Amino acid sequence: MKDAEAIRQAAGIIRAGGIVAFPTETVYGLGANGYNPLAVARIFEVKRRPSFDPLILHVADPADVRKLVKEIPSSAKKLIERFWPGPVTVVLLKEENIPDIVTAGLPSIAVRMPDHPMALSLIKESKCPIAAPSANPFGYLSPTTAEHVREQLGDQVDLILDGGPCTVGVESTIVSFLDGKPRLLRPGGVSLEEIESAIGEVEIRPVKEDRPSAPGMLSRHYAPRTPIVLDWSEKSLDSYKGRRIGLLAFRKPGMSLKFNHIEVLSKKGDLREAAANLFTAIRRLDDLRLDLILAESVPEVELGRAIMDRLRRATSKGE
Ligand code: TXA
Ligand code: MG
Repeated sequence: MKDAEAIRQAAGIIRAGGIVAFPTETVYGLGANGYNPLAVARIFEVKRRPSFDPLILHVADPADVRKLVKEIPSSAKKLIERFWPGPVTVVLLKEENIPDIVTAGLPSIAVRMPDHPMALSLIKESKCPIAAPSANPFGYLSPTTAEHVREQLGDQVDLILDGGPCTVGVESTIVSFLDGKPRLLRPGGVSLEEIESAIGEVEIRPVKEDRPSAPGMLSRHYAPRTPIVLDWSEKSLDSYKGRRIGLLAFRKPGMSLKFNHIEVLSKKGDLREAAANLFTAIRRLDDLRLDLILAESVPEVELGRAIMDRLRRATSKGE
């Protein structure tokens, strides 16, 4: 099927209240008409996502945000002008007509304009904002290819649009504008450094709350089936003798040690490339049914922040 035809069909499904998996520059999303609570409910069902975890609305034009929110503070406007289309999500006070199921009852809404031609055409042809989380079962790694979606949610979605592998590979950066100062809720595809260069200092300490405002921030999230260990040293490797171990290496590993499999995120040590390869590399290791995956740390700057955030959540034992 030609892309244009597939997109037309997908838009028809969205307008009719169905759900469609579609590519974005970050990860694949599972979308429904953001104004149709029943359609959105199906997303929660298929993902087995708890209803307290709100979704992002995807728009095809920066001007569309105005219809979704009460007001746009000037720093949010700056972010939008600078990074859209692109991997930044802004959280703002929502307009009344946005269904509660989308925002999990919160007075705020997360909005972004993805940088992917298929996603943008789909939103335009659907003639509505598309509510979409990442197209994975809740708590598991986000999909960065159509094949990943097929493997995990295949028969439960009405259509999967294939736009090739995602170029960014980690989810969008989420910035909230509900308090006086912009607050980073999730590090992602646009680095904190880039965001601060556009709007000045951003609060990075999480707000203390009874329930998480971004369950992407739940400590165990993005987890494969195989246990991942992040804190280890070459010396401690002896204690894993006899077990089948994979290595998730940042750059080409210097170690001569015997791993059953090694995945290198970026031979030249480029954090952007490493982010783009992260989820696929973990999936490949996970598919080998090893006893353990040892992950190397990456420098915690630029895209390294998003990578370390996802790795920590993949390794964390608790909720
Ligand atoms: O790159 C992305 O953002 C991808 C693609 C598909 O656009 N989407 C994505 O969606 O990662 P999801 O649902 O997996 O993660 C969205 C995060 C969740 O952790 C959710 O809690 C948070 O956004 N979120 C949504 N609405 C919010 C709100 N009103 N306030 C705070 N956090 C919110
Ligand atoms: Mg997700």
